[in-house]
Order: sequence, then C-alpha cells, then structure tokens
Amino acid sequence: MAGGQSQTTGRPRVVVTRRIFPDLAEQLQRRYELLDNQRDEDWSTQELIARLADADGLLTDPARRIDAPILQLCSRLCVVSNIAVGFNNIDLAACTRAGVVATNTPDVLNDATADHAWALMMAAARRVVESDRWTRAGNWQRFALDAFLGADVFGATLGIFGMGRIGRAIAGRAQGFCMRVLYHNRNRVAQSVAQTHNGVDSASTAQWVEREQLLREADFLVVLVPYSEQTHHLIGASELAQMKPGSVLVNIARGGVVDDAALAQALRLGRPGAAALDVMENEPHVLPELFALENVVLTPHIGSATRSARRAMVLRAIENLDQVLCGERPSAVINAEVWQRRRRIQSG
Ligand code: DGY
Repeated sequence: MAGGQSQTTGRPRVVVTRRIFPDLAEQLQRRYELLDNQRDEDWSTQELIARLADADGLLTDPARRIDAPILQLCSRLCVVSNIAVGFNNIDLAACTRAGVVATNTPDVLNDATADHAWALMMAAARRVVESDRWTRAGNWQRFALDAFLGADVFGATLGIFGMGRIGRAIAGRAQGFCMRVLYHNRNRVAQSVAQTHNGVDSASTAQWVEREQLLREADFLVVLVPYSEQTHHLIGASELAQMKPGSVLVNIARGGVVDDAALAQALRLGRPGAAALDVMENEPHVLPELFALENVVLTPHIGSATRSARRAMVLRAIENLDQVLCGERPSAVINAEVWQRRRRIQSG
C-alpha cells in the first residue's frame, strides 16, 4: 500500500457512508482504518466533512451527494468509490479538478435490474399491487369476469429509452414474451453490441426508432437513461401526452428523468394507463399525488437489490477503492482523465 498511513494504526483511512455487509466491513477493517456507518444514519454534509477530514478513500452510495465543497475540504482524499453504476450523485468535474479518482460498479447489477424492470412491468400491467391491497382489505366476495382487467404483456411492444447494458438484458427477456422491441438512443447501438447479453441474442430484433415513434408505439416504455442536466424531465407532459392510452411507463433509471408531477397528472387522464417507478424525484420523499393513484406501483430504489447483486456491487466498489489506494488504475474509473494527475496517498 503506497504511503498514507494513519499515525495511530499505520493504515490508510477509509470512510463508508452506508451500512455494508458485516463480513465485508470486517475485511476492510483489516486493511484500513475504517469509519463506517454501521447505524446507517444520514450524515449531514458537515458530519461527512468532519469524518472525511483525514480520509484517503471514500466508499459512497447513490443517495449521498459528493460535490466541490466536500472535495475542497478533504485534501487527503484520493478516491470516491460509488456503490452504484449511476453516478449523478458525484460532481465529476469537481472530482477531476481536485485530482480525485471516481469509480462506479457497472455490469454486476444488469440482470438484477432487468429482472426488477420486468417485475414492475408485470405488476403494473396486471394490477398486482392494487388487487393485493383490495384483497387484503377484505373486499373479495365472488369471482368476477371483469375484475382488475389488465394489459397483455405477451406479444406487446416494448420500448426502451436508453439502450445500454441493462436495456439489452431487458430486451433479451422480452423474447420469451414474443414482444416487438423498439429503442431510442441519441446514437444507434451498433448491431453487434445490441445483440449480445450473456450469450443470448438479446436485441437482435430490437429496432432503433425516433423518440416520437417510441413514445407513440410502445405499450411498455422503460426509461433507462442516466440523469444529467440534459436528461432532466426528459419524459414530461408533452412526451406523456404522446404515449398510447393504456400504456405502461417504467422508470428504473433515476428520479428527475421523469417529471413526476406531470406523470401524476397524466395518469389521472389514463395516458399512460399505468406507471411503475423504482426511482423518484426528491426520493425518499414521494410526491403525495402519486400515493393517491391506484395505477402506479412504487418501489424504493431497489432495482439492483438482490442479495448477490448488492454484494457484488459492494465488492466491486471495494476493489476499485483498493486499486486506487494501491496506486493501480481501477477498471471502473469514470473520470479517466484524472488518472495521470491524481492525488497520491500522502504519508503521515
Ligand atoms: C445504481 O447502481 O445506479 C442503482 O441505482 C443503485 O442500485
């Protein structure tokens, strides 16, 4: 381990903003002077800065904003390792200016997230949550031919807004449902890239279409674009108005890509007919209008939350952190330009 030892333990200092799996925290403890968030508290910015004052590495999570005021005050910090593939919580330009390497956890969560997108599509299409609530409330008196009529998934058109690794995994699963798959990206995905996911010819039938066609023709529209200033409210009132009556919108990307207030209004008008959101604007504070609607399914940012995926994400984030603190270039660096002029771990 290159330099940077703490005077008390002789090990580099690492801060972890979320509770992680205890055995992985123990592993970290053997290598680092560890300050982890065992009680899973929401540290204020000031509390985080105080904890980071002498830290060499930070293992952080998508709910934690890491920006210039923090980076400027933490002069020893060499690496911000995000336990997520999305990194809109990190001010990347500020990291780069400060010479701090930023990393993320791509790939290990693709299948778990794709599975959850499907769970949300099916739940919204077949009114699973709504009918569960109704049944639990003791309303079920008799069989009814017109009870909780939903939308067909088999043979429907799936639209993917933002075809990347997770999009391909979702598209691959659509083959089993004989779906027509359309997608829109600013740039078309090369055919060879679009076609492989875990060896499955996942998106061979996926067709690139203009955004308007995607909105107009999708029975199920899954939003997968990363959040940025450019994608803020990418799906707003005018996009929602172009969707098919009765269609289903799924947001499994980031809150803010969909305008939640406009969505609540659109859902009241039945266009789209239903929505399922794993991520929301201002999460964990959900727009109250959404709670009032039966045709929306809400989950608390658990797209990647399988035991194996979340563990793999933490392991990948630890690997990134270890690599930087050992002076190696991490495989999942997201501000590669900083690598040559990065902060090096300081001694003493
Ligand atoms: C990610 O990795 O970006 C997810 O949103 C966190 O599960």
